[in-house]
Amino acid sequence: MAAMPAAGAAAAARCGASLLTPRRARRLVQLVRSATAAGGDVEVGTAAERETYLEIASRPSRFQESQWGPEDVCVVLLEAMRIQWNHGYPSTPRGYPRTTHGFHEYPAGMQAAAADRILDVLPGNSLLDPFAGGGTSLVVGMSKGRETFGVDVSPLAAFVATHRTWRPAPGAEEETFEWMRATAAAALDGLDAAAVSSREEESSRARGLEPETSEPPRKEDGAKGGGGVPRAWRAIRRSLRTALDATSPNTSSVPPPGLGGTTPEGALWFCLSVALQRSQKGRGKRRGKNGSRGYKNQRRKAQAATENAFREGSATDAEADAAALFRKCVDEYCDRVSELCARVPSGTPPPVIVNGDVRNLPESSGELPASSVAAALTSPPYPGVYDYLSFARKVRAGSGAALMADGDAGSRTPGDGSSGSDADADRRHGTLRYFATAVPGDRAWPDEWNVGEFGSRRELRKDPRAFKEAWQEDQTRWIDAVARALQPGGRVAIMIGDGANVDTRASTIDAGASSGLAHVASVSMALTHETANGLVWNAARREHLVLLEKPRD
Ligand SMILES: C[S@@+](CC[C@H](N)C(=O)[O-])C[C@H]1O[C@@H](n2cnc3c(N)ncnc32)[C@H](O)[C@@H]1O
Repeated sequence: MAAMPAAGAAAAARCGASLLTPRRARRLVQLVRSATAAGGDVEVGTAAERETYLEIASRPSRFQESQWGPEDVCVVLLEAMRIQWNHGYPSTPRGYPRTTHGFHEYPAGMQAAAADRILDVLPGNSLLDPFAGGGTSLVVGMSKGRETFGVDVSPLAAFVATHRTWRPAPGAEEETFEWMRATAAAALDGLDAAAVSSREEESSRARGLEPETSEPPRKEDGAKGGGGVPRAWRAIRRSLRTALDATSPNTSSVPPPGLGGTTPEGALWFCLSVALQRSQKGRGKRRGKNGSRGYKNQRRKAQAATENAFREGSATDAEADAAALFRKCVDEYCDRVSELCARVPSGTPPPVIVNGDVRNLPESSGELPASSVAAALTSPPYPGVYDYLSFARKVRAGSGAALMADGDAGSRTPGDGSSGSDADADRRHGTLRYFATAVPGDRAWPDEWNVGEFGSRRELRKDPRAFKEAWQEDQTRWIDAVARALQPGGRVAIMIGDGANVDTRASTIDAGASSGLAHVASVSMALTHETANGLVWNAARREHLVLLEKPRD
């Protein structure tokens, strides 16, 4: 989904955000946060501030809107698109529960509140997202008590969606959160010792000696080409590993795995990945007051602090900051998962998340038998707009490398499928693959990190002439796979945007028709721009929401 900065600005202008003083804005954010946590709307300030996102979405937007189909369905679809364009992603609008949405970066997400509105025109108790991404529609579907299925070719998407949809075992929620927080605290307590061990190991390695400490060298530490974990993060990674070893394996203090393809231990590694990712944001933009000299000054200071810490046998400030950020992320994740648990009706099954290419989804896999789901809600890749697998490799090589390397994929590997059926192991693949794949120092990534994505920008650049035809073929293949999985009378809602000169609304309706899906309704939004002489022209991508239905006979 395309980010729409202009839309965000428009929304801010409409809400009168520019009239707020910074102090008042901060207060408003606080109130919104507390109201969001409580799941209610906020009653503050001006009438404009009091308006809910649904009320705002019930009026025509300033974007160019068009619709086709029955009025009652179009109303819902238009509202969903207005929410999408007004609020973008990943923050949820005021009054809509944030739960785990947006926890761990994932590009081009659907706005959760928009997905929620779309569910109003999708029948049944089950929901498939064949391009699950960060799992937005799965979280929304679960919150409505639906049985959910997600597919995505990106191991990163499977990893993020798995952790955004995970819940502790029913009845063991508090125990699990307590254990996670206590383990994070223990990792913090062990930070100094871990920092010293890390440095001893590094200096031994630098001198070409075997490390004196027990920990074997890890592939990713020495990897070239971005595979290494930033120095400041090695201590907390080591300390977390030590804290987990102290509670595992099979000690009674470890809470049960919970619902979904990970475990409380896996969730802690996920939090470490999120913390590292957050710490990298804006890195390189920071400059000292003296312009470019600032960077050198920072390095010099950091070097001095490291030497000091080394002498004193303690963690450096940077290591302590990293550890503190990790702990903060654990707290935030526990709070957000707790909110999710409160929203998901009891008895709702955990989602099934498959890391694979939806075009090849075999009926025989048992995951998605023919005519098994009542509805699908998705946002496929936009033609020639993103490179999801490149993004996934970049994240894995950076923040993802904070996680265990392959040598660690032992008995306590989250989601290793060591117990349970093969189907169970498959279900957990997203997490297993993510944890078990070492970051290569060269470009030799395993296939699942390289192939299967369609409609990528890279593909467009490689052969612009062949792109359009290949795109239509891919559209037909994935829509066909979804059509087979749908029950008669089932519906699929597709949010898609134009790119590479493809009219994706027409392309989607055509592909649906060739798979026997009827076009129920569709709406389109476009960003318009007023020129000096008053003309209005389309300045950016158009986005569409298309609703298709599988006939009953
Ligand atoms: C627009 S994003 C989906 C975002 C998601 N709806 C969300 O809210 O987070 C498109 C997704 O399609 C996935 N994708 C691309 N080609 C695919 C394929 N052949 N099979 C399955 N997923 C694919 C990408 O990895 C990406 O996560």
